[in-house]
Amino acid sequence: MAGNTFGKNFKVTTWGESHGPAIGVVIDGCPAGLPLCEEDIQPMMDRRHPQPTPVFNPYGVEIEAAPVNKRKEPDKIRILSGVFEGMTTGTPISIMIENTDVKSKDYDDLKDVYRPGHADYTFDMKYGIRDHRGGGRSSGRETAARVAAGAIAVKILDELGIKISSDITYLGFADEDDSAGGTVECVVTGMPAGVGETVFDKLDARLGQAVMSIGAVKAFEVGAGVMASQLTGSMNNDEFIVLDGKITKNTNNAGGILGGMSDGDEIVIKAYFKPTPSISKPQNTVNKNGEEVTITISGRHDDNVVEKAQVVVEAMVAVTLVDALFENMHSRLDKIKEFYR
Ligand SMILES: Cc1cc2nc3c(=O)[nH]c(=O)nc-3n(C[C@H](O)[C@H](O)[C@H](O)COP(=O)(O)O)c2cc1C
Repeated sequence: MAGNTFGKNFKVTTWGESHGPAIGVVIDGCPAGLPLCEEDIQPMMDRRHPQPTPVFNPYGVEIEAAPVNKRKEPDKIRILSGVFEGMTTGTPISIMIENTDVKSKDYDDLKDVYRPGHADYTFDMKYGIRDHRGGGRSSGRETAARVAAGAIAVKILDELGIKISSDITYLGFADEDDSAGGTVECVVTGMPAGVGETVFDKLDARLGQAVMSIGAVKAFEVGAGVMASQLTGSMNNDEFIVLDGKITKNTNNAGGILGGMSDGDEIVIKAYFKPTPSISKPQNTVNKNGEEVTITISGRHDDNVVEKAQVVVEAMVAVTLVDALFENMHSRLDKIKEFYR
């Protein structure tokens, strides 16, 4: 299956299905000499399992703890290669995460039906065969592997003084048997100006691909984003100024990217998530034999994937930036000469 690799210089390949023995990631292009151990990666993995958020009634009284993640995976990672005595060696880093809380029986009744909002129908049309258990390769579980790669990218960015943070700026709410979506805003500080390519591989285009490749993301924005289309040029343009002897801008509608290259300002992007497709409310659909059926999805699902996916957005942004930073290293002869002299 093609399309499992992201990046050119810092190459990330994920593998595995939701209910197989394990999932994992191979990172090729991580430079030698980065201190790295499993404990460096685990905290970011743990953020894919946020603590349940309590639900309050209008009088501020806690009614219940909202179940954020019903599949109880420890997401314990194992580094299989590319690290020796706590240091990356420059060879491919392979990371494995075992699938330990698998209840494939939950999916038996859904084997031949096309769940609305899922990749079941399109997978069958493309391959004619699919691992239906827990969404197989299309499962949100695949994103655990991305987060492992993202944690390494974050460590590299850290060495360069570049920091990534994010916030959930909108979290939808739905009743018991339904689901909701939301929005994650991600901000990068410390990114030097002039990183990114000028045409097809513009930094915003690469970030867009990275973020839109996360399951359930339906829209992506940079800076003022959609709002920019409703502004005038004079309102939208960020004027350049000199502050403390440095060139900067007085506003940041551009979201830190101009002409596909970072402008030295904060990079600001937004990811918009649709409601979780698995809902326990009865839904009409069609099965493999072309018969119309009504289904009720049981099993363990996130009512809202946003809290779990927030760290995935950060991970994909980190991977994209490291890839772009590495690519940028051969853009100027004077810098190449400086490096080899
Ligand atoms: C971290 C994460 C967790 C997810 N968990 C679930 C889930 O529990 N149930 C579900 O139906 N979809 C879940 N999804 C979304 C589906 O994977 C996704 O919507 C589906 O494969 C269809 O792909 P599309 O929405 O990109 O078109 C999750 C996505 C992410 C990023």
